[in-house]
Amino acid sequence: MRKNGIVAAIDGPSGTGKSSVGKLAAQALGYSFLSTGEMYRALGYKALQSGIDMADAAAVTRAAQSLKLTFKRQPDAVLRMFVDGVFLGDKLHDEAVGSAASKTSAVPGAREVLTNLMREIGRNGGVIMEGRDIGTVVFPDAEVKFYIDAAPEARAERRYKQLVERGESANYDEILEGIKERDHRDSTRAAAPLKAAPDAIIIDTSTLTLNEVVEKVLKIIKKHL
Ligand code: DC
Repeated sequence: MRKNGIVAAIDGPSGTGKSSVGKLAAQALGYSFLSTGEMYRALGYKALQSGIDMADAAAVTRAAQSLKLTFKRQPDAVLRMFVDGVFLGDKLHDEAVGSAASKTSAVPGAREVLTNLMREIGRNGGVIMEGRDIGTVVFPDAEVKFYIDAAPEARAERRYKQLVERGESANYDEILEGIKERDHRDSTRAAAPLKAAPDAIIIDTSTLTLNEVVEKVLKIIKKHL
């Protein structure tokens, strides 16, 4: 056992609700929750801001090396990330940053930098870590691994509702297309592609409520405590 408990890995494509699940489960356990997509989004944001060529692997790797990421646990279990001391919040969540993150995260040198940081954060356990390659690459020795999936249409529907609720303009077909494109890029890249670890427990959330998924996940984690 690690000092503060186990490492639980949650992987899967975007829009399956895996962040909400991880956060609520971490709260229930008194653990911390880390969304590693935020780290790749910070890199994408920086690449956009500094106008670097995202196809230039050396430049993207240098950008990753110069990223100054720090984390502070919030009362809701989330390890909030600060980029050069600044909390970027929603700025990391527009489509342009998501798309930049998907491109820059395909660079092996950049992945190595961020993977090392993730390992440092999770080393002592007591953490639920969510991403694409946590159970396969970052923590192949995680005590519990989940792969949370949902049909692209169900994910597009959720994203569409989210945007409409926020009062933003949204087009379902465009969202669905974007999701399929990103899935394809994330799962076919050479470096740490999105896939379920052989020992991951697969949960399809297409027809489950958030609470149902959280309960399922907690029940399984508790068997490993
Ligand atoms: O989970 P998210 O949508 O916030 O992730 C943003 C991008 O970062 C996504 O395109 C895939 C990438 N990512 C990754 O390659 N590895 C991770 N562990 C987490 C995210």
